[in-house]
Order: sequence, then structure tokens, then C-alpha cells
Amino acid sequence: MTASISDTLLQWYDAHARDLPWRLPPGHALPDDPAWPYRVWLSEVMLQQTTVAAVKPYFAKFTQTWPSVAALAAAPEDEVMAAWAGLGYYSRARNLVKCARAVAARGGFPATEVELRALPGLGDYTAAAIAAIAFGQRAVVVDANIERVTARLFAIAEPLPGAKKPIRAAADAITPERRAGDFAQAMMDLGAQICTPKGPRCLICPLRGACRAQALGEPEGLPVKPPKKAVPERRGTAFWITRGEGRDVWLVTRPATGMLGGMRALPDDGWSARVDGSGASPLEGAWRVLGAVRHGFTHASLTLEVRALEVADTPPGEGQWWPVERIGEAGLATLFAKAASLALA
Ligand code: ADE
Repeated sequence: MTASISDTLLQWYDAHARDLPWRLPPGHALPDDPAWPYRVWLSEVMLQQTTVAAVKPYFAKFTQTWPSVAALAAAPEDEVMAAWAGLGYYSRARNLVKCARAVAARGGFPATEVELRALPGLGDYTAAAIAAIAFGQRAVVVDANIERVTARLFAIAEPLPGAKKPIRAAADAITPERRAGDFAQAMMDLGAQICTPKGPRCLICPLRGACRAQALGEPEGLPVKPPKKAVPERRGTAFWITRGEGRDVWLVTRPATGMLGGMRALPDDGWSARVDGSGASPLEGAWRVLGAVRHGFTHASLTLEVRALEVADTPPGEGQWWPVERIGEAGLATLFAKAASLALA
């Protein structure tokens, strides 16, 4: 009898699994420790739309600062937002706090996919991943890597997003009863290291013999992506307002809802609510134009002009003076961190 796809892949994983801070070695017994599902949950939320390399330092910082879900649940939301700064997709951080509080209130993470899915802000992917990886349940985990590997294995040529359904069905068909967490992570590792979007390394792939796309000769063309939507260009202005000859800078907290909601930021002209920022300055004065920074969001590309003004009086409205030498601790999102770097260059 030929080995199944899952057996072959798990054998490969036993020898080649990536050693990652949120993982157990392949085949390891699941720890009976509440910190374990917490670490799996935290890593899976961080890894959505974000690379392993970018996540590692944030995972280390979060688990050091908040070693348990109870510790994270007790943290003020703005501290968590500030710690998340730079990782992007900030709604994840707000949902993280909500979810941590719900989990702490019920005394720990539930162990089934259905109960996990019922937690606030926790979607299908994360519920399946935690059920499989943290609790050893059979769950069908499909992230972008697994989607690509599965589309190629079964030569699913229908374009995305229509292909999602057959891809899920195919992933379901090869997910084993045992070691579903290792299996999911093996698929991820295969996707990250061998079955890569461009230039897949089919010659060293453990699933080469089972791969229909490889047999047909066009693995790189799968899955078929829908045409990329052009993202709109936006323009705006950020204001670097200082006092004490540049000693302190005026920071505001953005409104709780909307772009970068609830995060500390430089004041701006409201670009996020308009196609073009108005350029309107919050204060009269001899503004100096320092240049512009560019930042790509999923829904828009933004060019943000940065203007500076030194003042004697505290500006009107809500905000705080922040020591410029500690700007790295302000928890600015990447866009405003770029603007601050320009101002300090
Ligand atoms: N991406 C999402 N989850 C992951 C995991 N557990 N290991 C590696 N990459 C991942």
C-alpha cells in the first residue's frame, strides 16, 4: 500500500519542521498548561497577514509582558495597542483584548472548534488552528500557504475566491484524525519553504509523487488569483508640533473607530476620511514642509506630507506632549513612525 499524503507529509515534518517559538517539536505530547493554548492563540492572531520573521519579536515581547491570557485580559487596551504598533492590521489588537477578556472570564480557552469560534473576534481560521494545534482536535485548517499547497496537489484550476470551497473540501479529505495540528503546520512549512508562490522546489518536495499540478507541469500557476484591484492613491498631511526647541512633540489619540483607531498618532488633516487630505493646519504659524512619506495600506496608498511647527503654547484640543527622545515608546503605527523619522532626520 502506498503511504497516504498525510503520512508522507508528517514524516517529512518530523525531520524538517521549523523550530518556532510558539511550537512544540513534532509529535510532542500536548502540555496540560493554560499558557499553551494562550501562546498558540496569540501566535495565530499575529501570523495572520504577517510573516514569521515579523512576528517573532512581537511574540517574545507580548509573552514576556503578558505571560498568560489573564495578564493580557487585565492590561489596559492602549498599552496593548502600543505594543502592537508596527505589526499592522490594528483591529487584530483590539479583538485580541476583547477575546482575552472573554477567555479570562470563562476561566480559560475552550477546546473545541465550535466553542472557540464563538469567542469575540475569533474567526474560522483561528478556531480551526487552535483546536488542531493547541488541543489536538481534528480540524481543517486553511491559511494562504495551505490553500496554495492544496490547490496544487489537486490541480484545482478554478480561480479564487470560487476555488475556496473545493480547496477546503480537498484539505478536509487529506486531514488526518491524529496529529491534525502537526499536519496543518507541516502544510504551512511546505508552503513556506518548498511549495512557494514563485519557483516551487518540486524536485525536493515530499509530495511530488502525489501532486497533480506537478504531473500536469504548471504548479506555479496555481491557485489562480483574481486580478489585483488597483488601490486608490491618497494624499494627506501630518503635523510635527514641538515645544522646547524640539524637546517634546504633540501627540493625539485617534478616534476609537476608523483607521488606526485608538492609537497614539501625530495630528493630521483627516486624510483617512477623504480621498485627499485637506492640508488644513490645526494651528496658524510658519509651518515648515519637511518632505513626505509613503505608506501602503490594503485599501489605499498614501502620501503623507509632514509639516513642522515649534510653538510656545499647548495646542487646543485633546493630546499630550511626548518627549521626543522617547518617541520609540509612543506606540506609533508604521505610517506615523515614518513621519517621525523624517522629522528627526
Ligand atoms: N502561519 C500561521 N500559523 C503558523 C504556524 N503555526 N506556523 C508557521 N506559520 C504559520
